[in-house]
Amino acid sequence: MFKRILKDLKEIKTPYYIYDSRVIEKRAEILRDNFSDFADLFFAVKANTSISILKIIKGQDIGAEVVSPGEIFIALKSGIAPEKILYDSLARKEEEIEYAIDNRIEFFNFESLDQAVLLDNCAKNSKLKIKAFVRMNPGIFPKTHSHLSTGSSWSKFGIALRDLDKLYDIAKDFKSIELVGVHYHIGSQLLTPEPYFEALKKIESTVEFFIEKGLKIKYVNLGGGFGIPYKKEEKRFEPGNLKETYREISGKYGVRVFLELGRFLVAESGFIITKVLDVKDREGIPLYVVDSGMNDNPRPAIYDAYHHIEPLFEKSGDKIKSRVVGPICENSDEFGAYELPSLKIGDLLIIYNCGAYTRTMASNYNGRLLPAEYLYDGHELRQIRERQKLEGLITNEKL
Ligand code: LLP
Repeated sequence: MFKRILKDLKEIKTPYYIYDSRVIEKRAEILRDNFSDFADLFFAVKANTSISILKIIKGQDIGAEVVSPGEIFIALKSGIAPEKILYDSLARKEEEIEYAIDNRIEFFNFESLDQAVLLDNCAKNSKLKIKAFVRMNPGIFPKTHSHLSTGSSWSKFGIALRDLDKLYDIAKDFKSIELVGVHYHIGSQLLTPEPYFEALKKIESTVEFFIEKGLKIKYVNLGGGFGIPYKKEEKRFEPGNLKETYREISGKYGVRVFLELGRFLVAESGFIITKVLDVKDREGIPLYVVDSGMNDNPRPAIYDAYHHIEPLFEKSGDKIKSRVVGPICENSDEFGAYELPSLKIGDLLIIYNCGAYTRTMASNYNGRLLPAEYLYDGHELRQIRERQKLEGLITNEKL
């Protein structure tokens, strides 16, 4: 992927993130090919908030799914029009709703009856009508990490199906909300279509319920969650498996489908380049300490996630089981075990699948500075964000 610019990569101060825009464009094309005749696509901005990445997404005619005023601000800065922004949130404060309304955000969801009332009141005060989705909890447990399973009845997300009547009682008196659709998002990093089929069965009854009550449902937002192969034996989610079922839903109820994908679009476009700082032996197994850790990519520490690691420059020699750890003062700061050739201090490694939920979840833990970001488009390599400066660590402090 970076073969032509390996020499340039060697000159850059590590650790850093690097993205390949061609991957994002390819993934967007797959989604468009499968869904665009009956669906609108939104990018879950929480996966990657870098403006240069959002501009690529915008160029693919994909809108933004945001979850906070901060993400609204960034999406607007990247040039995504407010009419293409969908603001989801488990629970909002008045000021957050006002910020979104002032910025003319087109779509909102709500996930509880009290939140629906708050949303309606805020819209009424601003004398604007807003379009809203109700997020339902379908009560299914897709096969994924429990932290990422948002459709189960135990999860905090959405309104329980048994509360539909109560919801209707409130919705029929909305003053400033136009209830345009039903929403659910069952989880993230799903590799098979079955959980989507299961959720859909449960949610169809909700759509039918509203239609019977005379509410004009225009959209069904079927969430995101398409997974990618972090491990060799995993297969990327195949959107084609959902295409016909989703098309049928669209036709059957006369609705446009919304999809809000994060990981599928960007995860495989991003990498971290890191340098070996030290080599130790732990009970006969080489342990490589690198200059990037859970501060730059917390996914292994939080979800026990696997991110493939290889030497950036091919190395000869037998590969043996080795451990790769970061420099942070915690045992959990470990990427995992890998088959690696013998490495020495100064060698560069590439960490795969760091385009989603990596930079956006990074932190300054241990006083580490947020790394620079670079973008490659097959021709040109350019820096899209500078490395954070030391002063960045004390911004907003009253000294
Ligand atoms: N829609 C809603 C309402 C969501 O909450 C999410 C993700 C998405 C769409 C996009 O899901 P995706 O297509 O990216 O799977 N930090 C975790 C992932 C958390 C996902 C949160 N919600 C990770 O690193 O795996």
